[in-house]
Amino acid sequence: MTKTILLTGGAGYIGSHTYVALVEAGYDVVILDDFSNAREDVPERLEMITGKPVACHRGDLLDPAVLDTVFNSHKIDAVVHFAAKKAVGESTRMPLEYIEVNCTGLVALLKRMREAGCFRLVFSSSATVYGEPKVVPIPEDAERFHTSPYAYTKLMGEQILEQLGASDDRWAFGVLRYFNPVGAHTSGQIGEDPNGIPNNLMPYIAKVAVGELPALNVFGDDYDTPDGTGLRDYIHVEDLARAHVLSLDALLERDEGHVLNIGTGQAYSVLEMLRAYERACGKPLPYVIAPRRSGDVPVLLARVDRAAEVIGFRAEYGLETMCASSWAWISRLRNSVPA
Ligand code: UFG
Repeated sequence: MTKTILLTGGAGYIGSHTYVALVEAGYDVVILDDFSNAREDVPERLEMITGKPVACHRGDLLDPAVLDTVFNSHKIDAVVHFAAKKAVGESTRMPLEYIEVNCTGLVALLKRMREAGCFRLVFSSSATVYGEPKVVPIPEDAERFHTSPYAYTKLMGEQILEQLGASDDRWAFGVLRYFNPVGAHTSGQIGEDPNGIPNNLMPYIAKVAVGELPALNVFGDDYDTPDGTGLRDYIHVEDLARAHVLSLDALLERDEGHVLNIGTGQAYSVLEMLRAYERACGKPLPYVIAPRRSGDVPVLLARVDRAAEVIGFRAEYGLETMCASSWAWISRLRNSVPA
């Protein structure tokens, strides 16, 4: 029988791509999103891509009436929990809001799931739980350490699931530690489009490419890396979306959970990303070398063999596709080149 999956935060950047991947894999999918960080037109864009009506509830996870409506209207077999706040810098200014949304929201969801007899959840964790890693590529059993309130909430989220799993063996969790998701859907219909000045590298480069920002600030060129700029494991958002499908398949087939890095195992520097984006958009992009950003680490790179062994996940898309898909999405959205 077709399984029904609830995506909290399903209208957001990673959530919307995962929606498409799950529908294509044959799941029924229900979205719950408060649209605090999602485009209003995402449900209609998802309908265009999948050709199917989208079940979308608008509301706040912390409102018990909202969770009641969702769980009373659908028989949910498993949940993918994206809904969370995710800006590292902002979290240092508003730790309580981060703890409330990311941790209290998770607890509220888990309690409502238990009431509904639903014991399978995929959790959006992050490579941020490794802090400044001592071993690179980073294995999943590396020490965890938080360097921001945001990181603290992801670490605490993992620990909440550990405590719960240990207390009741009906639960099984897929904890996915994302590295750096980038790019946009092949359809050109969905992607990342943050309001204002982006925190993350690729959306910032994209805004330089469409002329909305004058130049990229490269945060530090004196790291102990080949070109002195930070190295990251960038992963195409469609690959990341597919990892959620595989994680759910595994959780619904077996009774045991997993904790997995989701990356490509390949790192690129800030300048390599900029050069690749220049090739994608066909023009030179201005940049200036700026001071290091506080809290940044030189290298984040995933060990990826466990994800391959446990759920059969291997990233397929390379750097060129990551940049080309981002450029296709943003340029079409801004209508600066013909669609
Ligand atoms: N960078 C710049 N200029 C910018 C933005 C970023 O040079 O304007 C550099 C950063 O210094 C870093 C690299 O580009 O070297 C990547 O930075 P991002 O902000 O895109 O990503 P981070 O690795 O800092 O953070 C991301 C997520 C976090 C997550 C973390 C670890 O945004 O949520 O990965 O997984 F916690």
